[in-house]
Amino acid sequence: MGKKISVLIAENRRDTRELIKRYLMTEKVIEVVGEADTGPAAVELAERLTPDIVLIYSEMQQMDGYEACEKITETCRSTSVIIMAREIGAEQVRKAMVSGAKDYITMPLDINRLISTIRLTYKKSVKFEIPKATDERKDKKDGRIIGIFSTKGGVGKTTIALNLAVDMAKKSRGRIALVDLDLQFGDVALMANLEPEMTIADIMEETASIDTSTINGLMTEYMANLMVLASPPSPEYAEYIGGETIREILSFLRQTYDYVVIDMASSFSDATLAALDFADEIFMVSAMDIVSVKNVKIGIEIMKSLEYPDEKIKILVNMANPKLGIGYADLERIFERKIDYKIPEAKKSLIKAVNKGVPHISTRGSGKTNKAFGRISKGIIKR
Ligand SMILES: Nc1ncnc2c1ncn2[C@@H]1O[C@H](COP(=O)(O)OP(=O)(O)O)[C@@H](O)[C@H]1O
Ligand SMILES: [Mg+2]
Repeated sequence: MGKKISVLIAENRRDTRELIKRYLMTEKVIEVVGEADTGPAAVELAERLTPDIVLIYSEMQQMDGYEACEKITETCRSTSVIIMAREIGAEQVRKAMVSGAKDYITMPLDINRLISTIRLTYKKSVKFEIPKATDERKDKKDGRIIGIFSTKGGVGKTTIALNLAVDMAKKSRGRIALVDLDLQFGDVALMANLEPEMTIADIMEETASIDTSTINGLMTEYMANLMVLASPPSPEYAEYIGGETIREILSFLRQTYDYVVIDMASSFSDATLAALDFADEIFMVSAMDIVSVKNVKIGIEIMKSLEYPDEKIKILVNMANPKLGIGYADLERIFERKIDYKIPEAKKSLIKAVNKGVPHISTRGSGKTNKAFGRISKGIIKR
């Protein structure tokens, strides 16, 4: 075994620290190198010891865990901070991300989860030296990356990603990649009626040498100029595909394809964040029910705090129908953004298309919906 993972534990209460320490001592590769009982003490110790991991409670005394995390990540580039919090809702996730935390975990702690979070965070940190967003943009090649995202599931991300990709492939001579980054519950392959031999999960075997041919080998052909990178065959693979892997995959795809359309998960995982960063454009998808409106609003706020330029985000309202109690003007007021695209609801024809495994755009189903897909894909090709 090589170097141990050094961990600093920051918790107000001594008994909790002791408990965590005892937990961690059962893991041979982990070494607890220090303990702090206040926020400032955590910052001071982190700077002195530069541990691999700082495990910090969100409600530290004198300076909360988020603020301490921000200070630590600013000065200790090789240290990764994991926030422990009693409740992890959108607000906590946003704060954790803004403060530079690498991961977060809920309390009471689940020991196995804690250990796997530490190991995974460490593994990711040694594989790459946090590339700055600006550096990533500089090496950008011609390929355009379009992320179809939402903070809510079931709003039509997969439907939109598939239909746009197919329509773009028909209208353009460019090469198009459709990537299923809903790593746990991806269903692009199912919706496209594909039976992929290889998926993104197979990249784990190859991590030593990811190159263009490795990635091309994982893709399944859908049309002559449209290839699909399918999601893993079952949910548990997701945890092993982190931000760094996604960055590598996307930078290769960008070099080989003219357009990369990503069907994303609805959570802010490391993989999602990496893809959001990489995307040239993010289509934020909302339906017209109050739950998805609320979640999309939070999503827009998070994008703001990530300092993405306004023009990177496009608001797409799916299953658009102004007669459902919320009007378009209400939505624009809530989002504080204008709606860029609307896709009308295709009642039965969409379900029929899905059940047949044919993209709606290739059927004679609801003309209005297909026209909307067509307008959007044309717009992407032109840019
Ligand atoms: N414009 C639309 N009109 C009618 N049904 C739609 C539309 N867009 C999506 N759906 C349906 O909504 C459901 C969820 O869509 P899906 O693409 O799987 O969402 P997500 O990927 O966001 O979870 C599916 O049954 C799909 O057929
Ligand atoms: Mg989906």
